[in-house]
Amino acid sequence: MKTILIDGLTNIQKAADIIQQGGLVASPTETVYGLCANALNPTAVSNIFKAKGRPNDNPLIIHIADLDMLNDLVLEISDTAKTLIEHFWPGPLTLIFKANPSIPAEVTAGLSTVAIRFPSHPMMRELITKSKVPIAAPSANTSGKPSPTNARRVMDDLDGKIEAVIDGSTSEFGLESTIVDTTTEIPIILRPGAVTFEMLEDLLGEVHLDSTLSHSLKEGEKPKAPGMKYTHYSPNAEVIIVDGNLDNIVSSISFFVEEKHKLGKKVGILATDETMHLFKADFVLSCGTEKDLLTVAFHLFEVLRKFDDAGMDIVYSLAFPKIGIGSAVMNRLEKSASHRIINV
Ligand code: TXA
Ligand code: MG
Repeated sequence: MKTILIDGLTNIQKAADIIQQGGLVASPTETVYGLCANALNPTAVSNIFKAKGRPNDNPLIIHIADLDMLNDLVLEISDTAKTLIEHFWPGPLTLIFKANPSIPAEVTAGLSTVAIRFPSHPMMRELITKSKVPIAAPSANTSGKPSPTNARRVMDDLDGKIEAVIDGSTSEFGLESTIVDTTTEIPIILRPGAVTFEMLEDLLGEVHLDSTLSHSLKEGEKPKAPGMKYTHYSPNAEVIIVDGNLDNIVSSISFFVEEKHKLGKKVGILATDETMHLFKADFVLSCGTEKDLLTVAFHLFEVLRKFDDAGMDIVYSLAFPKIGIGSAVMNRLEKSASHRIINV
């Protein structure tokens, strides 16, 4: 299949035509690029799983462009959900609802709940509106790889496997949406994102974190968002997080780099604007400034992919404070490191 690039400023109608014909189109959103299909067309939805190599027990998020679409997809909208919708939609927040049973099981992976998001990105919204259907869309990467934040990275993974990619700007946030389960008495965060724990707690008073978010999964343990159990965000390079006080981190990493060089390995370091001058390795990249972790979120997935472009075998990464968006950054980084963390 030839994958075409569509100019997002002038030609969304062409992308909408593809969606209506049951094809797949990757589109920018404010979080990461999504791989879109008509959520009501089971064959089109199955093709998403094939193109990504995604396990089919991992349900998809349905994207909507107005609240009428929501009413058709869910059985119940709790007061908590109403408050969250009012404050954070359109935006980087996905809500879990009791699903209307008419939603294809391919989307929900047979669960009785459904994940819905109202994105703010104008191209994605126009795509939904012009397609006239709700759109199922996971991140537009090969399963297991870091999510793409620009059209080029979508092409790196999916060229030849999907009909089209809408070329738009780099995603504003750089990490996938926060997921909140609104079907429980007290809402539960299933995946941290740009709508932070602190923001949700301020608004709602009480919010829980899915218990599996605070540690690496033990055998038999199941997170409430099925996708959170898979290895994720992994570049080809082995990622290792080094945490502790900065002097110790610098001296430890310098020792590790020397050891790995003796084995003929190429070593990268994921640092910050403030610290990158302290390190020597084959490839040192800043992920943003410590003064504003939104910049780290914005660059993280692209930086992980750049280490692969440069052929690094191992990447040592600094850790970030788990405050605000830092929690989402560390959730993705720890997964990309398969929870390999060295405390120094
Ligand atoms: O920002 C985002 O959310 C992006 C953009 C494209 O919208 N999408 C995204 O989709 O990250 P994906 O498929 O990569 O991640 C969706 C997550 C998975 O972990 C999945 O298991 C979870 O949402 N999920 C979907 N439906 C669910 C449900 N009914 N209950 C619990 N978790 C659900
Ligand atoms: Mg994903």
